[in-house]
Amino acid sequence: MALKACLFDMDGVIVDSAVHHFVAWKRLAEELSIPFTEEDNHALKGLSRVDSLDHILRLGHLQLDEKTKVKLMDQKNAWYLDLIQGMRAEDILPGAKELIESLVAEGIQVGLGSSSRNAQLILDNVGLTPLFDTVVDGNHITLSKPDPEVFLKGAAALGVEPADVVVFEDAASGVKAAKTGGFFAVGVGDKGQLSEADVVVDHLEEVTVDQMRTWMEHGLG
Ligand code: BG6
Ligand code: MG
Repeated sequence: MALKACLFDMDGVIVDSAVHHFVAWKRLAEELSIPFTEEDNHALKGLSRVDSLDHILRLGHLQLDEKTKVKLMDQKNAWYLDLIQGMRAEDILPGAKELIESLVAEGIQVGLGSSSRNAQLILDNVGLTPLFDTVVDGNHITLSKPDPEVFLKGAAALGVEPADVVVFEDAASGVKAAKTGGFFAVGVGDKGQLSEADVVVDHLEEVTVDQMRTWMEHGLG
């Protein structure tokens, strides 16, 4: 296995937008009188908008018709857009830009693999779009993580095999998607929550291209 490309999740890996998703979902859950904690939110990371809403409705034992669900998702997204509209380069998580720049400098392809339909907007706002060779997001997929579709589409767009690609993920669903797709998975965050990853780091600041090559050669960290 050779390091040919990297695919990055966005929310919680490149920018700290995961917290804004949580705030907006919590506000919606409160309006529906459904208790929703930060602990509950872990299960939502990586899921699509509709899968997230369904998860919250299940928590509250609530069943709603499609029209109402669309209204609720639009409301959540409007609150979320308000929260992220001010995002700028300063909001990029530590080490993310530097790692992507060193990959580009070494001729290793870089792609985005996000469940979010707002991914392109955020990448543009923080000024990272020019560094990416491909962006696959919630608008391009039919199955959200833990299904590997988003990463498989990213690898196909870059013309590489999953075994030659490192995926960076902060969500258990995303790590599962990467492993199911045959990728090398680096979890970013909590070791307990990301135990299926090949390697777990606290921040991207800790990662270098040389280290990634060593991981892939040995199959482990
Ligand atoms: C993922 C987030 O990246 O995108 C989820 O981890 C979010 O929390 C999902 O629900 C969909 O995002 P959006 O922006 O399309 O509502
Ligand atoms: Mg994420």
